[in-house]
Amino acid sequence: MNNAPIGIFDSGVGGLTVMSAIISHLPQENLIYFGDTLHLPYGPRLLTQVRQFAFQIIDYLISQSVKIVVVACNTATAAALVEAQSVYRVPIIGVIEPGARGAVQATKNRKIGVIGTKGTISSNAYSEAVRALDAGATVYSAACPKFVEVVERGLTSEANFFTPSIYTLAKNYLTPLLRAGIDTLILGCTHYPILTPLLKKVCGSEVTLISSAQETANEVESILSRKGYLRSSTSKPSYRFLCTGDVQRFKLLGSRFLGQEITEVEEIKLSHVIAR
Ligand code: DGL
Repeated sequence: MNNAPIGIFDSGVGGLTVMSAIISHLPQENLIYFGDTLHLPYGPRLLTQVRQFAFQIIDYLISQSVKIVVVACNTATAAALVEAQSVYRVPIIGVIEPGARGAVQATKNRKIGVIGTKGTISSNAYSEAVRALDAGATVYSAACPKFVEVVERGLTSEANFFTPSIYTLAKNYLTPLLRAGIDTLILGCTHYPILTPLLKKVCGSEVTLISSAQETANEVESILSRKGYLRSSTSKPSYRFLCTGDVQRFKLLGSRFLGQEITEVEEIKLSHVIAR
């Protein structure tokens, strides 16, 4: 038994889709969510810089005594997971391997599409993760650099964000993958589950969409259970929300991503943490 919280982080609010899945799987667990909104977006940054931010956040979460760290950001997983796992003693999991596993299990023709930020796609982390599970699978990737902005803009305005121009943008990103014959598409960015209705429309019913959130939550549950780290208490769990940027914006956007209202957010400065 271990009643310490689970630490979850992302560049912003996208990782709250992962937190939401963890709440459904493990409703008794205490959670700390960290959104590095000051440095969002991670997608266009150099992976070395993203790694530096990730290490600072992991240091911070460990200072809050978390029992496991979930890197709920594809770009940060691609940039930092391997190094972080070899440096820290606390278990650390990312979202790429769980997403790849979900896709390998779902595909029938072994043609898998992946969409993500520039950083995630250029790292080839998904192709490697898929091929480690099924060397005969083929991965077709596309960076969708405008999607994060589209989601954030859409969620802060009242207007419907599935406009014809956004449909065209999605169609342009996805056409090469669809022409290649993919039957499964990994949403390789934690912002993208919000675009599911649009992506379903563009891809059609023959393509299965895979979001890493559910798969990652399954993995967190299995790690905690095998290590004997599940919380054993009937008292209500606590959820803390931390961010490095605008607290009001985090509350507004975050509530929509999480699907429940976020009323308190703590602003954190990472500057005191020694950069590696
Ligand atoms: N949530 C990040 C991811 O999953 C993307 C957002 C960003 O570019 O910071 O890769």
